[in-house]
Amino acid sequence: MSIGFFNGEFIDIDKAVIPIDERGHQFGDGVYEVVKVYNAKPFLIDAHLERFEKSASNISIKLPYSLDELKKLILEVIERSGIKDAEVYFQVTRGIAPRNHLFPNVEPSFTLTVKPARKVPEQSYEHGVQTVIAEDDRWAKCHIKSLNLLPNILAKQNAVEAGSFEAIFEKDGFIAEGTSSNVFVVKDKVLYTTPLTSNILPGITRAAVLQIAREKGIEVKEEKFTKDFLLNADEAFITSTSVELLPIRSVDGHLIGDGAPGAITKALHQSFKAMC
Ligand code: PDD
Repeated sequence: MSIGFFNGEFIDIDKAVIPIDERGHQFGDGVYEVVKVYNAKPFLIDAHLERFEKSASNISIKLPYSLDELKKLILEVIERSGIKDAEVYFQVTRGIAPRNHLFPNVEPSFTLTVKPARKVPEQSYEHGVQTVIAEDDRWAKCHIKSLNLLPNILAKQNAVEAGSFEAIFEKDGFIAEGTSSNVFVVKDKVLYTTPLTSNILPGITRAAVLQIAREKGIEVKEEKFTKDFLLNADEAFITSTSVELLPIRSVDGHLIGDGAPGAITKALHQSFKAMC
C-alpha cells in the first residue's frame, strides 16, 4: 500500500494536505531525494541521506530530523507499506508562510511518499534507448537536488514527444547530464563520465558504477567530453536511482557503436544488480 507522510503524520497518499502557502508549492523552495527499495531494503540509503542534508544546507534549510531519525522513519514507512520493491521520495521545504520571497521564520516542512517502484521495460535494457541532445538552460547550481525542475521537465517532454527516452543536456559545448540521469561513455575500453562540478548532480548510482568499474580494473576518466565524442563512442549509458544503468542506443538519431548495448555496459549493470 502506498503511504504518505507530512510533518509528523502518516497520511493517505491521495489526501489533500499541503496548505496553499506551503513554499514548496509556491516557489519550489526546497530539495528532495529518492531512494530505491529492493526486497524491502533501501539501497545506498546513507549516501542519499548525506546528499539530502548537503542539498538542504546549500539552500540554508536545516533538516527537521537527524539523519538517523530519517533513516528510522524510512525503514518504518517501508515496513508499513509492505511494498518489497519501492521508491521512497522525500522533500524538505522552507515551510508554510504567507507568500514572500524572504525566508520566513517558520519550521521547515517534510514530506515523504512510498510507492511501488516504476519499472523500465526489459526491452529498453536489451536494445538501449533513444536520446536527444538539449541545450542546458538550467541554473548554475545543478549539484543541488532542487525541487525546481522546470528545464528538466520541458526537455524530457520534448524528448519523449520526439520518440526518445531521455534528453541529455549540453552546456558550453560539453555533455553535462540527462534530465534525471548521469551520462557515461566507453571509448577504447576506457570509461568516461562528466566530472563533478556544479553543472551536474553527484549521482549516487554514478558513484556506485565508478566504484564497480575501478574494482573490475576498468580504466576510468572523470573528464569533460563533447557531443561528438559521445556520438563516436563504442558504448554509452545513463545511470540513475530509477533506471540503474540503461544503455543508450542512439543520440539525435545517430547509433552509438552498432546500436546494441556494449559488453562493458552489460558487465557493469550485472555487477550493479548484484549489489542491489
Ligand atoms: N533523478 N542527474 C539528475 C538531474 C537527476 O535528477 C538524477 C536522479 C541523477 C542521477 O542521480 P542518482 O543516481 O543519485 O539517482 C542525475 C532521480 C532518479 C529523480 O529525480 O527521480
